[in-house]
Amino acid sequence: MKYLFYTFITVFILVWVIPVIYLSSQNPEIQWNWDEINTNDIHFPNSFAWGTATAAHQVEGYNAHNNWYLWENSFDNNNKSRIHNGEKSGIAADHWNRYNEDISLMEELGVNHYRFSIEWSKIEPEKGTINIEALNHYKDLCNALIEADITPVVTLHHFSHPIWFEKIGAFEKKENIQHFVKFSELVFNELYDLVPIWCTINEPSVFVSQGYFNGVFPPGKKDPVLAGKVLENLLNAHIQVYRHLKDLPGGDLVQIGLVKNIFQFEPLRRWHILDWVFSNILNNVFTHSTIKFLKTGKSTFYLPGMVTNDLENQDAIGSLDFIGLNYYSRMHVEGRLDLNEPFIFKTRPKDLQTDMDYALYPEGFHKALHTISSLNVPIYVTENGVADRSDNIRPIFIKRYLYALNQALKDRLDIRGYFYWSLMDNFEWAEGYKMKFGLYEVNFKTQERVLRKGSKPFIDIVKKRGADERGYLVNIGEIAPDFTMEYISGEKVNLSDLRGKVVVLQFTASWCSVCREEMPHLEKDVWQKYKDEGVILIGIDRDEPLETVIKFQNDMKTTYPLALDPNANIFGLFADKNSGVTRNVVIDKNGKIVFLTRLFEKEEYLEMIEKIKSLI
Ligand code: FCB
Repeated sequence: MKYLFYTFITVFILVWVIPVIYLSSQNPEIQWNWDEINTNDIHFPNSFAWGTATAAHQVEGYNAHNNWYLWENSFDNNNKSRIHNGEKSGIAADHWNRYNEDISLMEELGVNHYRFSIEWSKIEPEKGTINIEALNHYKDLCNALIEADITPVVTLHHFSHPIWFEKIGAFEKKENIQHFVKFSELVFNELYDLVPIWCTINEPSVFVSQGYFNGVFPPGKKDPVLAGKVLENLLNAHIQVYRHLKDLPGGDLVQIGLVKNIFQFEPLRRWHILDWVFSNILNNVFTHSTIKFLKTGKSTFYLPGMVTNDLENQDAIGSLDFIGLNYYSRMHVEGRLDLNEPFIFKTRPKDLQTDMDYALYPEGFHKALHTISSLNVPIYVTENGVADRSDNIRPIFIKRYLYALNQALKDRLDIRGYFYWSLMDNFEWAEGYKMKFGLYEVNFKTQERVLRKGSKPFIDIVKKRGADERGYLVNIGEIAPDFTMEYISGEKVNLSDLRGKVVVLQFTASWCSVCREEMPHLEKDVWQKYKDEGVILIGIDRDEPLETVIKFQNDMKTTYPLALDPNANIFGLFADKNSGVTRNVVIDKNGKIVFLTRLFEKEEYLEMIEKIKSLI
């Protein structure tokens, strides 16, 4: 009895306690303290691409030749519609006819990119029959976008394809990939000179899990082995399209990538080994196996007891000019001792829920950006958004997710742009029209579009000026932003109090060697030379305590005044807080910025001295 008890305890410790402790320490639950975070304190580079995203079947309307048309018009075993409320996409948001109006909406937002998909079934409704009008439609759309200074970004497959393709087995069969390659070539030849960014396939893992595992997307199958095959074929289709388009005229001038959705799977109960086991399996099959395949050309699609599919294709290596990341949230997994249903997904009451069955999780966005960055190619966030009928959560969502994105940029990830999902409300696949993802609300009776109040934070950030290549947020010719500074003597001064003088602000810090190199020159060439001629030089020390700054001044043997800058808030008015010190801002007697330097470059420095001289 005693022996059995000890055996049980030992086994329990080995297969439960130790693994759970290990897994918890390797995968800590990331939770930021939002009460302490200032989500306004962010800037994006001026070169950052801002856009919105849609997909053909969800917005265009008039699709009667694709797999979704079949699905919307079919019933399950209980004679129930496949779509929430029995809805059909129908004319959707009538984007097919209203794209010009929709481009004005984009202009109103201030975005400069638009990601949309090409509806294969409109271009090739029957195998081999090309609808030239449909091709021209997309050409017109691209031209209209370009006219509005909006860069078109095309997706070649976004969940929908022609019925004839579905009927021959779609991506279930390797030999069907050639049809998709052919279609891609056709579109590419038409649009390559108008479209600089191409997404081959949208979210292979979602297409596969919903269509071949959960059975809620067409073709509604629940077959893990087939799911593994379809994923393999989709990834190989991406590779073939990539290689093929790259060889066509114009191929070397465009960027071609794949769009990967990341949903993290996390244990509902962090102490429960089963929750960990299933989370790990799901993360591997949904995300890590694909990333590994794209990186190494080798990987395994594995679901224990169901499927082991080895993927291999050396052409995968180097088949991405960029990776598109679609991120929404995470899922909490509860493992069970039930072979029919070994795990289920659950929401946690404490989380801020969206209308979809997942919560807000901006920390996960930051994590997903790091995960996807392991591919070592530029990243575009090709989708991110929230379903929120109430419009109460939307502004919080936008601020926090953009903050998370900004943190990832600060971590130096190569993120080139962000596309909000979606421009306007649309047909949310199996969820029908219930989900409201739009920055614009659409009245599906009148087709009227109205900007949601909760979309404002997105517009604010898009319109907020970014930093220039040197990290400056201000420009020559502008009035310098006002602030109050405290000198190390304790005296407080507003910048605006100094009108009538020429002011030179030197941003510095005691740990900065370039600043130290520059300071004696400033002392000699500016302070000693012009302090009696109406010039004031102030060293603004970035975020260091008073004692440090006093010691710094003593070390440097300079005599011009130094001021404190707690949290780099003064610095942040002039430059992105993420950028470095050693900068001088010269402000004329009227408060206007007239010269900006970065680092201590001899020529620029001498030019600045000349400038100061000319202002006296
Ligand atoms: C993504 C799809 C997109 C949209 C959003 C909400 O998985 O790519 O079409 O449905 O989810």
